[in-house]
Amino acid sequence: MAVRLGFIGTGGIANHHLNNLVRMEGVRLSAFYDVDGQRAQKAASQYDGAKAFANLDEMLDSTELDGLYICVPPMAHGDAENKAIQRGIPFLVEKPLGIDGGLPADIAAKVRSKQLITSVGYHWRYNESAATAKQLLAESKPGMALGYWMGGMPMVPWWRVQTGSGGQFVEQTTHIVDLLRYLCGEVREVYAAYALQVMGEQVPGTDVPDVGTVTLKMANGMVATVSNTCLLPVGHHVGLDIYTDQGVLELRSEELREVTREGTRSRKNVANPYFVEDEAFIHALRTGDASRILSNYEDALRTHEVTIAANDSAASGKPVSIG
Ligand SMILES: NC(=O)c1ccc[n+]([C@@H]2O[C@H](COP(=O)([O-])OP(=O)(O)OC[C@H]3O[C@@H](n4cnc5c(N)ncnc54)[C@H](O)[C@@H]3O)[C@@H](O)[C@H]2O)c1
Repeated sequence: MAVRLGFIGTGGIANHHLNNLVRMEGVRLSAFYDVDGQRAQKAASQYDGAKAFANLDEMLDSTELDGLYICVPPMAHGDAENKAIQRGIPFLVEKPLGIDGGLPADIAAKVRSKQLITSVGYHWRYNESAATAKQLLAESKPGMALGYWMGGMPMVPWWRVQTGSGGQFVEQTTHIVDLLRYLCGEVREVYAAYALQVMGEQVPGTDVPDVGTVTLKMANGMVATVSNTCLLPVGHHVGLDIYTDQGVLELRSEELREVTREGTRSRKNVANPYFVEDEAFIHALRTGDASRILSNYEDALRTHEVTIAANDSAASGKPVSIG
């Protein structure tokens, strides 16, 4: 029997997932809801038998759904997750989990008590480079890491306001924090410095910092810094470098570079990580086996807590302990 899916939020990333899902056998795109009704209509019109809804309760109560994709902006989380949990419908939700700590922690507790299958869109985990780096790190001792997200500002209107996105570290650089946790373990303390230097003048209404650097102390003794900027007119580097007794691992979206005494080895990522992430979720819905899901809600909450702690530290000027 086909896996029947509903979408909540039908913007940029939703369409990315939809392009993957239409290529999978036995997946039916059944129901679409968006606060912008025209977007939901447009999405539904592309798939046989799909229906757009103007009311989320009506969609969830009138359609048999095996899983939901929640692809709303950071400030819009809560309603969709709670309605899915009430009805026991598994969901894949896009990062970040929200713009503060309270709501995601509350949702995580409910997910745990219902033992619901969840997946969170930390797609960097699904790159081959992450799996290879994990193997290499098992045979080395890491000492420190440097992470980066250096680029320009995404122009969706919610992104430039703190109450919309939570800021760059929470919305974007969270991928790098998540990769650091995935490969090197938990973060125990953060100290952050942020500033708004340029984008407040260039894009009216901007109140998110456009530069920031965060120092992290890890449970295994490592130290790391993760820096970000969104003031550049061009994209620069995005990724994570890990320094070990064997050399350097440079993780980028397209490749893993390994720098050792023997020289430099580059391994390209081949698979589309979003596709692998979507397949893992569909497999879990179909079989109940969630082992291919590399980031569930509970785990993603720990990444989210690190980014929120960084925001708190930048606001207070003091280090913030975690967990
Ligand atoms: N994993 C990734 O690499 C990745 C890439 C892009 C975006 N994202 C994340 O996906 C989320 C959405 O980003 P996007 O680029 O698709 O944004 P977008 O603005 O293109 O689309 C968001 C859609 O959600 C709708 N929406 C807003 N509030 C809603 C609500 N309460 N209920 C239902 N629909 C609602 C909007 O009308 C819009 O159609 C963000 O959190 C973003 O960080 C993740």
